Amino acid sequence: MQTTLEATLLRLRLPPETKGIWLSEAMELGFPNPSDFGAWRAFVEASVAVAMRRLPGPVAETLDRFFDPEGPDALLIENLPVDPNLPAPPQDGCRPANKTAVSEAVIAGLIEGHASILSYSNEKNGAPIHEITPVQGLEHTTASTGRVPFACHTDAAFLAPRFCPRGLLLFGLLNQPNAPTAILPLDYILEAAPHSAASQSLVRSLQKPIFRHPSPSSFETSASVIRPIVWRDSEGVARIAVQTHAVQPVNEEAENAITQLRALIDTLTPERVVLHPGDALLFKNDRVLHGRDAFAGARWLQRAYFTDSLVPFREKTGNAARGFVFDAERLL
Ligand SMILES: [Fe+2]
Repeated sequence: MQTTLEATLLRLRLPPETKGIWLSEAMELGFPNPSDFGAWRAFVEASVAVAMRRLPGPVAETLDRFFDPEGPDALLIENLPVDPNLPAPPQDGCRPANKTAVSEAVIAGLIEGHASILSYSNEKNGAPIHEITPVQGLEHTTASTGRVPFACHTDAAFLAPRFCPRGLLLFGLLNQPNAPTAILPLDYILEAAPHSAASQSLVRSLQKPIFRHPSPSSFETSASVIRPIVWRDSEGVARIAVQTHAVQPVNEEAENAITQLRALIDTLTPERVVLHPGDALLFKNDRVLHGRDAFAGARWLQRAYFTDSLVPFREKTGNAARGFVFDAERLL
């Protein structure tokens, strides 16, 4: 059965009266020093309590469904509270100290009732919530710091699948150019090609460990690993990890497969979501690719990674000291 956009991306809108109360309660919360794990947890728990109080029943139920492993792969919630007096987007990519904590409280409130926020010490200093806005001098990078086109990809594709973010939340703070975020479900890719011998051969090749996945430029590590691009989990669900612009072949079969995959993706039309201030887009990182077109003007999103449990991360790295921050080089 052909996957439909409606089945993949659920859209909800918060009623204005709920937004106002949530905003006033979030304004009471101060953003903690994330290095102080106790203070961070107190902020998270207060944010979850506010979200649980203010999320209307149908929105809360849909959020529950999204975090269910068998639930939809992407969810857009519009009209969430956002900081009323936002500072200028940070040109250094770091959270402005004078920003109130409304958006962070909403992000933590949406995620942490169902999953755990995580970060990597090698990326954006391990910040739990990333500032996604052009950084002075890095505007031409194919990364969250740039303005140039960023082909559809998954995040942290070089990590072992268990240690990639299970999902991402992107939150709109400012989007003057109405620059869209592109999302492309894996099922579109798998279902797009006719069932010819050539396309079946492509899928077979994508499941072989013949691709080198380099660490993205946002990470301060040069690690790379050789793994498949597509695989099936223990339940038989197809999963993907790839930077389509940067993945490298290790042999001729891989080279052909990358060429075919890029050509196939070029034939597909991703869903383009304009994240206005207060819009939260949640999606599963190994089921949905994301990217963007080039843009001009002021655009500032925030991003959080989440996973279902931090226990395997702590066991693998032996690091419980900072709670949610892990060394990516120990998670390959
Ligand atoms: Fe990304």
